[in-house]
Amino acid sequence: MKKLMLWRCKTLACGIPGQDVINDGAILTDVEKIIWVGTYSALPIQFKDQIKDTHHFAKQCITPGLIDCHTHVVYAGNRAHEWAARLQGESYESIAKQGGGIQFTVKQTQQCSEDELFELSAKRLQAMCESGVTTLEIKSGYGLNFETEAKMLTVAKRLEQAFPVTIQKTYLGLHTLPLEFKNDRVGYLKLVIEQILPKLMDLKLVDAVDAFCEDIAFTKNEVELFFQAAQQFNLKMKLHAEQLSDSEGVQLAARFGALSVDHIEFISRSGIAALAKSETVAVLLPVAYYHLHAQQKPPVAVLRDNKIMMAIATDCNPGSSPTTSLLLAMNMACMLFDLTPEETFLGVTKYAAQALGLEHQYGSLEPNKVADFVVWDIVHPIELAATLGVNPCQAVIKKGSIVYDKRSFRSFRS
Ligand code: NIG
Ligand code: FE
Repeated sequence: MKKLMLWRCKTLACGIPGQDVINDGAILTDVEKIIWVGTYSALPIQFKDQIKDTHHFAKQCITPGLIDCHTHVVYAGNRAHEWAARLQGESYESIAKQGGGIQFTVKQTQQCSEDELFELSAKRLQAMCESGVTTLEIKSGYGLNFETEAKMLTVAKRLEQAFPVTIQKTYLGLHTLPLEFKNDRVGYLKLVIEQILPKLMDLKLVDAVDAFCEDIAFTKNEVELFFQAAQQFNLKMKLHAEQLSDSEGVQLAARFGALSVDHIEFISRSGIAALAKSETVAVLLPVAYYHLHAQQKPPVAVLRDNKIMMAIATDCNPGSSPTTSLLLAMNMACMLFDLTPEETFLGVTKYAAQALGLEHQYGSLEPNKVADFVVWDIVHPIELAATLGVNPCQAVIKKGSIVYDKRSFRSFRS
């Protein structure tokens, strides 16, 4: 006889499009998996005598564990001085062209020991876990050489062992051109494709790849060569596309069946048409838009009309989005990009899972999915996006076990 766990709550938001909250909600779990979800009164009788224990959150709302599908959590140093310079009129691009920006963080990250990098990143991840994130993506890209890229991805792997989260490790191979390759773009591409990527694959440190397709970074043709190499390893792709200008990266990513295109403030009509025909998710990063004082917004109404899946992420990084708060990103998605609260909620659950290729296991509360969910001191998920700087997370359940309970202040880290 099975020993099932019953979780009851005032309201249940499952992360299913078009479905409103379920009152007097119930979730039945069998070890790590969800086996039944619905309103308590509809719980099938045959399950009732198999229930070993019940957790009743009589005043709270349960949602799927949140998914932050675009982060650069692993880095050293900070760039507050660049932010201050931007307030005085400097631009993100001009700082990058003068050797600051990503290059600044590369230097700090190269110089940092693996253990120190782990500690810095663990603090950020702790904050994310405390606000309901149970799955996230972590990109490399501040290493640019094999040693440092491997160090970053190893830290991501260690974080997954130390915290109750699922982490997708993304090799951001084309982030910026290393200074030593200033006059040899082809040489750097060759290094990435022929040496760094295969070696990282040997070490099992890569789940997906990413690139920055932009005037100040890499061209569409360079990204295409990198994607072809990734395809040889059966890796999925993601792309920082159309953040500062239109480089037609979206069309390229859609053609490769990429998991997502991220930022896309400058997406063109033909980019939208390409996305509409694909399964590629549009990942919107409103905190980066806000922090850079950007002027052009992604065309959300057109994306919506074309039924393009939209996800929301923090883009946690020291340059354009120094935040760990997915809840803040949700608020900004509504306030700055005109997403509805429902779109925003699906953007950090169902469609965020899709942007990582993990939609069969995570992102919604349905039978056979992993029992990852969050107990919030709210009644409706609209409240998650409505508040600013408020964290109503009360408890986190990962793989069917309570891994965090605010009332007992249990820390995540094992
Ligand atoms: O997603 N656009 C490129 N990469 C990051 C920023 C990296 C940085 O400025 O350090 C982003 O915004
Ligand atoms: Fe990014």
